[in-house]
Amino acid sequence: MKQQDIAHVLTQEPTLHSLLVRGWVRSFRSNRFIALNDGSTIKNIQCVVDFENFEEDVLAKVTVGAAVEIKGVLVESQGQGQSVEIQVSDIEVLGEANPEDVKLTILSPKRHTLEKLREQAHLRVRTQTFSAVMRTRSKLSFAIHEYFQKNGFYYMHAPIVTGSDAEGAGEMFRVSALDPKNPPLKENGEIDYSKDFFGKETNLTVSGQLEAETYAMGLGKVYTFGPTFRAENSNTSRHLAEFWMIEPEVAFCDLAGNMDLAEDFIKYVIKYALEHCADDLEFLENRLLQEEKSKPQADRSDMPLREKLQFVLENNFKRVSYTEAIDILKRSKPNQKKKFKYIIEEWGADLQSEHERFLVEKHFKCPVILFDYPAKIKAFYMRLNDDGKTVRAMDVLFPGIGEIVGGSQREERYDVLKEKMEAMGIDEEELHWYLDLRKFGTAVHSGFGLGFERLVQFTTGMGNIRDVIPYPRTPGNASF
Ligand code: 4AD
Ligand code: MG
Repeated sequence: MKQQDIAHVLTQEPTLHSLLVRGWVRSFRSNRFIALNDGSTIKNIQCVVDFENFEEDVLAKVTVGAAVEIKGVLVESQGQGQSVEIQVSDIEVLGEANPEDVKLTILSPKRHTLEKLREQAHLRVRTQTFSAVMRTRSKLSFAIHEYFQKNGFYYMHAPIVTGSDAEGAGEMFRVSALDPKNPPLKENGEIDYSKDFFGKETNLTVSGQLEAETYAMGLGKVYTFGPTFRAENSNTSRHLAEFWMIEPEVAFCDLAGNMDLAEDFIKYVIKYALEHCADDLEFLENRLLQEEKSKPQADRSDMPLREKLQFVLENNFKRVSYTEAIDILKRSKPNQKKKFKYIIEEWGADLQSEHERFLVEKHFKCPVILFDYPAKIKAFYMRLNDDGKTVRAMDVLFPGIGEIVGGSQREERYDVLKEKMEAMGIDEEELHWYLDLRKFGTAVHSGFGLGFERLVQFTTGMGNIRDVIPYPRTPGNASF
């Protein structure tokens, strides 16, 4: 007999045919009702046991966390909240779970904090909250590929090990095969990287953008979707040292086209999640509503999760220039409000997350795309505007998240780019290939990077980025 997914079984009509499911026991009440889950859905299937028909020592092994195989027929359920249940004819315990040991883990059936779950990251996918988040994460990944593939983009695999620092921020993890205790040295005492594996200094990629640009200038429209790494010491609920980024890059596309793409893309994948993760999002929404109850009224979110997602779909992202944003921030004196105490002093300052959240959550009350930032606070590759002081940068800001996308129109003019690299101390030798693009059929082009975990956070309503990736890497933590 073929194993069926519980997700599928739950959609079937009662039948007299026997069926087979396998999964893990979530609970076993009164020696009669097994709640079984196989990960295919947030829902458990109720399996009803007539204990007279089974050996006592078999039933004794049907404990929380055990892996079991169940055969039976699907009947109409007497219980509430489910239409069908399995009348069990056979039980085989495939893998036992000692109740005394289970008690010490997050598998024990009580409410555990998310912090506690993180300590047992290898077991947390067995919990409802976590499995719901991870199913949603998987669906969102698929939606991302679907969006780009449907729209004529090619999936480009950017290298993980690179010699360049795309963001010029120096937040790289070095990759080296040298013996750290005894590296080859140059005469001046510095480490001789020419003797290293690649014959030069290399690092894990911080962004696939520069390589994606080279491919956009041949394939037209490309996107990357892969892991990126940043050795930035930010211990926040929105930063990881290893995160996944989606980076589309489009030839013959300017900043306005880039904004249109970002908005259309984000709406597509959120809509996909609403349609394909309905049960999980309902569960996560209820979980949040419970959590909200314990918060002071002022801190409570004004919209349930799915309403918030729907709101994003139905409203245009507000497009605002950096200069306008600074004016708004100055006028609204956010420093007077406790939550937004950081003071904007000057045009030219980088926005802190409290400014971004003020603009999105208090002022515009919808997603915002900020554009035309001061050149000084942005990366070297962004297209300089005619004013000579701003660049065609854009950041998409989301409620509760802050920056979810960062992107720009790229500097396509050879001389301007070269000058800028010089001024910013960027090694031309190292990026000769990047400059080459501007020599051979250069063209206006644009792209952006969306932080995948921040998207998953927004979609699932999870407050901490550590809870939307299987094994988070953060400063001081790479356990598991
Ligand atoms: O704004 P960032 O640094 O932009 C770039 O890397 C560009 N090269 C992208 C491009 O134009 N192709 O990063 C892009 C996005 C951010 O908006 C944020 O969502 C996410 O990546 N991100 C992080 N997510 C989690 N942890 C971190 N440490 C992140 N740093 C950036
Ligand atoms: Mg950014």
